[in-house]
Amino acid sequence: MTGLRIPDNALLRHKLARLRDRRTDSAGFRRLLAEIGAMLTMEAMADLPEREEAVETPVTATRAQMLAAPEPCLVAVLRAGLGLLEGARGILPEAPVGHLGLVRDEHTLVASEYVVRLPRDLATRGALVLDPMLATGGSAVQALARVKQAGATFIRFACVVAAPEGLRALRDAHPDVPVIAAAVDEKLNERGYIVPGLGDAGDRCFGTE
Ligand code: PRP
Ligand code: URA
Repeated sequence: MTGLRIPDNALLRHKLARLRDRRTDSAGFRRLLAEIGAMLTMEAMADLPEREEAVETPVTATRAQMLAAPEPCLVAVLRAGLGLLEGARGILPEAPVGHLGLVRDEHTLVASEYVVRLPRDLATRGALVLDPMLATGGSAVQALARVKQAGATFIRFACVVAAPEGLRALRDAHPDVPVIAAAVDEKLNERGYIVPGLGDAGDRCFGTE
């Protein structure tokens, strides 16, 4: 699918396998989510525009590549996006952080918004939106619409596991937004959970199962 990037990385696949494992406890789940968040952020930022500058090393003068613009904002979709955010902030320490609270109704699977706190400079910096699960795509479609409404044009969406249904919904609603995922799974089940997936990411992350 155009605009979908899955890093070809054995360590990422290893961490995802441990994240999926039902025996991984909440502390382990959080740690893995943060580590995967850092790896996905690296991939999402791999093609940021650069400029060349003169740099003095302790040894000599040289020229080196630097980012042409300030680091993009990070936007975590609550709750589970907070797990990815922890690792993403380690990679982008200067990035302003936004929070978007969205929760799916467990019967209709429609997401409703309960909090919006976005940085002012979304329009100038752009954003990396973080949510580990792309299931029906309803939450991600809403989240990206909010970020666009706030003026962002440079936008990327990073998730851990994507369902084909969610990818299609995202492509239809936001074809301009590249998606970075650790894996694309098989399908959704009758309760809207990704199969094989990893269960309820928010509950596993915060121990609310
Ligand atoms: C989960 C997940 C996504 C959403 C994905 O959040 O973190 O935000 O479901 O599903 P969708 O693609 O069908 O919209 P949930 O609504 O369970 O909230 P939580 O993170 O607070 O548990
Ligand atoms: N949200 C989750 O946390 N897990 C799923 O499988 C689907 C939506």
